[in-house]
Amino acid sequence: MKKNIAVIFGSRSAEHDVSILTAHTPIISSLLAMSDYDVWPVYISKKGVWYCDKVMNELSFFKNDNFENELKKLKPIKMALNHGLEIIWPGVFSKKVNIDIAFPATHGTYGEDGSLMGLLRMANIPFVGCDLFASAVAMDKVLTKQIMSAENIPIAPYVWFTKHEWKKNQEALRKKISELKYPLFIKPVHLGSSIGITKAKTSQELENGIEVALHYDDKILVEEGVENLIEVTLPIMGNETPTCALIERPLNKTEMFDFNDKYLSGGKNTEGANAQYSELPANIEPALSQQVIELGRRAYHTIGCEGVARIDFLIDNQTKNVYVNEINTLPGSLYIHNWRKVGVSGVDLVTKLILLANERFDSQKNITHAFKSDILKMGGGNKTQE
Ligand SMILES: Nc1ncnc2c1ncn2[C@@H]1O[C@H](COP(=O)(O)OP(=O)(O)O)[C@@H](O)[C@H]1O
Ligand SMILES: [Mg+2]
Repeated sequence: MKKNIAVIFGSRSAEHDVSILTAHTPIISSLLAMSDYDVWPVYISKKGVWYCDKVMNELSFFKNDNFENELKKLKPIKMALNHGLEIIWPGVFSKKVNIDIAFPATHGTYGEDGSLMGLLRMANIPFVGCDLFASAVAMDKVLTKQIMSAENIPIAPYVWFTKHEWKKNQEALRKKISELKYPLFIKPVHLGSSIGITKAKTSQELENGIEVALHYDDKILVEEGVENLIEVTLPIMGNETPTCALIERPLNKTEMFDFNDKYLSGGKNTEGANAQYSELPANIEPALSQQVIELGRRAYHTIGCEGVARIDFLIDNQTKNVYVNEINTLPGSLYIHNWRKVGVSGVDLVTKLILLANERFDSQKNITHAFKSDILKMGGGNKTQE
């Protein structure tokens, strides 16, 4: 019998539209090409309403300018988490489907940040990709840096603070920032796609940049710019013994690798984000490649990535210093264009990721989460005894 797989995408995120692309290419297209699965597209609207209808297995449904009107004709679904994950279509002709495995395809908030993984953990079903903890850490640029530096993985020097701290201690924070070398990058901590990021060459630009970033996030960071910059990224797949795809270099025309470069220009072809706008493999010195692969593997392991992820690096081509910049726990379109170059097709990738999800699920089953105690018999008396 075919297994029921739910591909979950969309959601309340700035990267909502990119998620629709990722879900369809390569995930749903590959799953449909395989005969093992009944594919349930679970779409979460920008407002957070959940839908599931097989018409959404076609990307064309979402390409229609009117798709939000079409959605209104569909009934939102309900999800039950009691015995696995159950999709319920309420109403007179109510229907239920038990999901055997989930494939998250959400980018950014309310998805890639670990929240969806938390839900799937509670439902106790296998799901593809990074788990809750890696996802939540990778979504916070400061937490990522703190964990990287605890393991001596090089990162660009930075100062971080909350909106509250900025209001209270501006002078002290300005002093701390003054120890960093210009140009500086000011970033909201939780966003992606270059949203709210400023490059500052002067203290006035720094002040403006902080104001902009605080508009998007309550926690921000100010980071030293890496000069003579080469940016590369490395997709990695696996649980305990991960393998790397090719080091890829985005060839952006603007000073910053911005939203347009990343998604809009690359979105026209079926290869997914940024396919035509990169050098693949990156033409960098072998010594740098070696460092990127070594640091990529360490970063993947340190954060606890599983399934698939992509590690971004900033390289100073003069000093030859390599810094880990950020970790994407759900690369756009799974970076299928890159995997293809190492002989991994969409079907291969999706098959492997499902295998890895089941492997993790099985190994978690063997972990003891319960133990017998007498605490209930003994307790219940005076609360102040604690
Ligand atoms: N420290 C830095 N030095 C030089 N360029 C940087 C630095 N930090 C960010 N950038 C530039 O800004 C882009 C976006 O920053 P990044 O940290 O990757 O945020 P996002 O999550 O939005 O992708 C990077 O791809 C790079 O081009
Ligand atoms: Mg980035």
